This record gives sequence, structure tokens and C-alpha cells, in this order.
Amino acid sequence: MAMLVTGAAGFIGSHLVDRLLDAGRRVVGVDDLSRGSEGNLAKAFLNPRFRFVRVNLADFRQVESRLPPAIAAVDEPCDAVWHLAANSDIAAGVADPRIDLRDTFMTTFNLLEIMPVLGCRRMLFASTSAVYGERAGPLTEDAGPLLPISQYGAMKLASEAAISAACEAQLERAWICRFPNVVGPRSTHGILFDLLEKLSRDPETLEVLGDGRQRKPYLHVFELLDAMLFIWSRAPEKRAVYNIGPEDGGVEVADIVQTVIESTGRPTRIRYAGGDRGWIGDVPRFLYSVDKLAGLGWRPMGDSANAIRRSVAELRAGRGAA
Ligand SMILES: NC(=O)c1ccc[n+]([C@@H]2O[C@H](COP(=O)([O-])OP(=O)(O)OC[C@H]3O[C@@H](n4cnc5c(N)ncnc54)[C@H](O)[C@@H]3O)[C@@H](O)[C@H]2O)c1
Repeated sequence: MAMLVTGAAGFIGSHLVDRLLDAGRRVVGVDDLSRGSEGNLAKAFLNPRFRFVRVNLADFRQVESRLPPAIAAVDEPCDAVWHLAANSDIAAGVADPRIDLRDTFMTTFNLLEIMPVLGCRRMLFASTSAVYGERAGPLTEDAGPLLPISQYGAMKLASEAAISAACEAQLERAWICRFPNVVGPRSTHGILFDLLEKLSRDPETLEVLGDGRQRKPYLHVFELLDAMLFIWSRAPEKRAVYNIGPEDGGVEVADIVQTVIESTGRPTRIRYAGGDRGWIGDVPRFLYSVDKLAGLGWRPMGDSANAIRRSVAELRAGRGAA
């Protein structure tokens, strides 16, 4: 059966497309190319089981005119929608909250509306630790009330709510995966992308957001995909909600900065912007509980520091650095 992947041209979505194709699936990739790029799908385009449709999922006229023919052309029923399209730039949503309403919430709402037409009743949703807001102690899936501190987190939480409600109507099953910070090749944003980008412009001085003491969990994108596929195949609940993450307490920004600078082998002056967080809506420190996922039987192979080291090397190689 075919899978529909939204956000297919983005960082995580493009790796998911590759993984599903490698598993022998037919895949329809959907993206408006606002943040992703067709270059991320170079391998997928060589596969006859892949089809790409450019659709702005926030625009229902485009959704209803382009998605049904794309699924019909595949000639196989649509097994599930893996919904990854969203605004991934939290700070942009602070400057203009309509970005998250449009690209994070309306994309979800419109997909839920079109899914009965597609004959598809199962959705896996890319959610985030940002739905928890700023809370002390390990974040568990049953924590409440959830009070996000960014529009990004708010619109992800609203999407989770809409998906849950749809499970009483057009959906049969939903898997809500709350990602940590994800790193790896093809990333389009995030701390490693940002630091390497700045170093390529100015190798002498590195400006770092916040005071360097922010501490968060990081997971490599390939481990994230393993976990998503595991949850998809094993979680028993009609509405399955799982945190995905490493089993450690995370890494401090100052340590990530050192790893990045050491990888270049050049002396670089570090200038911290100050303040306890990187931007409005940033949750500077959090501890993720992944006990529920471990109880289901999945554990990551690496820890946060490992994911950072591996991704720095991969991203530098991707930029043509030695
Ligand atoms: N990368 C992380 O650390 C992280 C952490 C938590 C959650 N997530 C979630 O995982 C998903 C994938 O994130 P990513 O890091 O790959 O981001 P990304 O920006 O690389 O990918 C998102 C893709 O969605 C597409 N998109 C945005 N608005 C769209 C619209 N209106 N119509 C169609 N396509 C649209 C973009 O063009 C982009 O290709 C997102 O939902 C994100 O919120 C990511």
C-alpha cells in the first residue's frame, strides 16, 4: 500500500521517504518547497515507486484539487499519511504567529478533511517536546495541563487535539510522536546548521545565542526514523502518544559549540549573546522521559553527545569540508 509523506522535501521527511522506499513501499511525497528542497529527494526521484506533488497544504483548494488525483494515479490504496509538513522555524513564528497557524495547524486540519476522500484513515503526526512548555522534571506523556510557550508548540498541540477528535470520526488510528531536537544530514535549521552556517561566514568569531547553558536532548535522524517505524508497527493504542528521544539528560550548548569548533581545527573566538535562552519561545532546559517508548521495547543506540558528534561530521562532509 502507498504512504503519503508531507514535508517530504524537508530534513526529516526526505530521510523518511528514502527509508519507506528502501522498505519497498510506494510513496507519494508532498511539499510546497517553502523550506525543503527537491535536492533532498534526489535519490527518491530515481525510484519508480516515488511520486512528488507540490501542494501548499494550508490552501484547501490546492489540497482538494491535487491530492486525490495524485493518490488515484498510484493505483494502490493509501495506507497512511505521515504528516511532517510544518513551520520548523520557532523564532519566525514569534515574529508572525500566522506562520504557525498556517503551516502547522491548517496543514493538519486540511489533511484531516481530505483523508476520507483519499480513502485513508491512519495518520502518524510529527509532534514536538515544545507542546510541554517550560516544566521542571522529566516530561512524561501524561503530564498536564500542557501550556506551550511558543506559537509553534501551541499549533502542534492544537494539531494533536484535532487529530484526537478525528479519531472519533474520519480516522481509525493515530500515532503522535513527540520529537526531541533532531540532528543529522540535510538539516535545514537548528543549532548545528546555525553554528556551521555562521562559521562559514566568519571563521574567526562565533556568535552563540543565549549564555551557552541551555541543555537539551538530541537524537540522530536515523534513530528517530527507527523509533517512528517501531511505534507505527507496535503501539497498541488507537491514539498513541510517545516521546522519542535519547535516554540521557542532554547536552549543553557550550559543549556543542566546542565540538563544532574542534571539528574545524581552527581557533575561534566565542561570543555569547547572553540571556538564559536563544529566542522568545525557546525552552532552554528540559528533561525528556522516554520510559513509555522503552516499555514498548525501543531504546536508542546512541546518546545526545554521540548524535551531535556524528552529525557535525556528516554536516561538514555535506558542505565539502574535510
Ligand atoms: N528537526 C527537529 O529538531 C524537530 C523537532 C521536533 C519536531 N519536528 C517536526 O518534524 C517535522 C519535520 O521537521 P524538519 O526538521 O524536517 O523541518 P523542515 O523545515 O526541514 O521540513 C518541513 C517541510 O514542510 C514543508 N512545508 C511547510 N509548510 C508547508 C505547507 N503549507 N504545505 C506543504 N509543505 C509545507 C517545508 O517546505 C519543509 O520541506 C516538522 O513537523 C517539525 O515540526 C522537528
